[in-house]
Amino acid sequence: MPPMIRRPQPQPPAQPSPRDEHPMTMPIPFERPAPEPPSTPAEPAQAATTAPLGPTGRPMPVFPEPAPLTKHGGARVISMCNQKGGVGKTTTTINLGASLAELGRKVLLVDFDPQGSLSVGLGLNPHEMDLTIYNLLMQRDVTLDEVVVPSGIEGMDLLPSNIDLSAAEVQLVHEVAREQTLQRILAPALEHYDIILIDCQPSLGLLTVNALTASDGVIVPLECEYFALRGVALLKQTIDKVRERLNPRLEIDGVLGTMFDGRTLHSREVMERLVSAWGDTVFHTVIRRTVKFSDATVAGEPITSYASSSTGADAYRSLAKEVLTRWPAE
Ligand SMILES: Nc1ncnc2c1ncn2[C@@H]1O[C@H](COP(=O)(O)OP(=O)(O)OP(=O)(O)O)[C@@H](O)[C@H]1O
Ligand SMILES: [Mg+2]
Repeated sequence: MPPMIRRPQPQPPAQPSPRDEHPMTMPIPFERPAPEPPSTPAEPAQAATTAPLGPTGRPMPVFPEPAPLTKHGGARVISMCNQKGGVGKTTTTINLGASLAELGRKVLLVDFDPQGSLSVGLGLNPHEMDLTIYNLLMQRDVTLDEVVVPSGIEGMDLLPSNIDLSAAEVQLVHEVAREQTLQRILAPALEHYDIILIDCQPSLGLLTVNALTASDGVIVPLECEYFALRGVALLKQTIDKVRERLNPRLEIDGVLGTMFDGRTLHSREVMERLVSAWGDTVFHTVIRRTVKFSDATVAGEPITSYASSSTGADAYRSLAKEVLTRWPAE
C-alpha cells in the first residue's frame, strides 16, 4: 500500500494589520476596494454641498488665492528632504519655488546637493560656475551676493552647487559648530527673501543635518510606489533628533505624494497608506506622473514656464497655495 500523503488543509486567508506592526512597515493589502453602492436620487443634492474627494481620498479643499505682499523679508526656510533618491526633491524645489514666485513671493533656491541637479535643471553648466555654495561654506571672505545668481524666473534666485560640495561634507567635520554652517551663511539672505527652499541630497549625512538645522520646516516628497515608504521612519527619527539637539523650531510642513498614477490600484493604495500613517500632514495636492517634468529638466526651466498650462504646472501652483495656508501668517 502506498504511504498516505497528508495534504495540507487550506488555510484561512491571512488577516492584515496585526496590532504590533508599525503602519509604515506593514505590507500593502492588495485588495480591491468594495464597490460603491448604487447612487440614490437623493445623493446628487447632497454631493453639491460637500467637497469632492481628492486624490488622497479626502475631500479636496479650495485653497484661497494668497494676498499680495506689501513688503519682503523674514524668510521661512524649508528643506526638501528624503534620503531616498529620485523621489522628486529637485523637481519640487524648482517648481514649488517658481509657483511661489508667480504668487509674488521672493524666493531663493539653495542647491545643497553635490550632484548639482537643481542648478542644471535651471540651465546652469556645472563646469562654468565661478563660485558655488562650496566657496561660501568654506571661505570666510566670500559673500552671499557674490554667489547668488538669477534663476531665469522673475522673483527667484539660486545659490548654485556642483561636485565641489562633496568635499565640504568631509572638510566640515573638522569645523567648530559644523552643523550650523549653512544656517550661518544663509542668515544675511533672510531679510531679502520670503521663502528659501533647500534641495537636499539623497542622504542623511552632515549636509542634510546642516539643511535641517537651518530650516523652519521640512517637506518630504514621497514617490507613490511601495518601496517609497521604507526609510521614512529613519527620516522622521533624524528630523526629531535635529529638533531636540540643534533646532527646536523645526516642523514637518508636509508629506507630498509624487509620481502618482491614479489609474493604478497600487498608487491609490500607497496613498491610502500614507494618509493612514501621516494623517493631515499629507498634502491634499498630489503630483501626478508625467514625462513633461523630464522634458522641462532638459529644457533647463520649471514646468510652470516650459509647459505653463500643463497639469504638472497646475499641481505645483496648487501646492504653492496649499503650503501658504499651512505656514504662519507672513
Ligand atoms: N511627477 C513626476 N512625473 C514623472 N517624472 C518625474 C516626476 N517628478 C520627477 N520626475 C523625474 O524623476 C527624476 C527624479 O526626480 P528628481 O531629480 O526631482 O528627484 P530627486 O529626489 O531630487 O533625486 P535625487 O535624490 O537624485 O536628488 C527626474 O528625471 C525627474 O524629471
Ligand atoms: Mg535631487
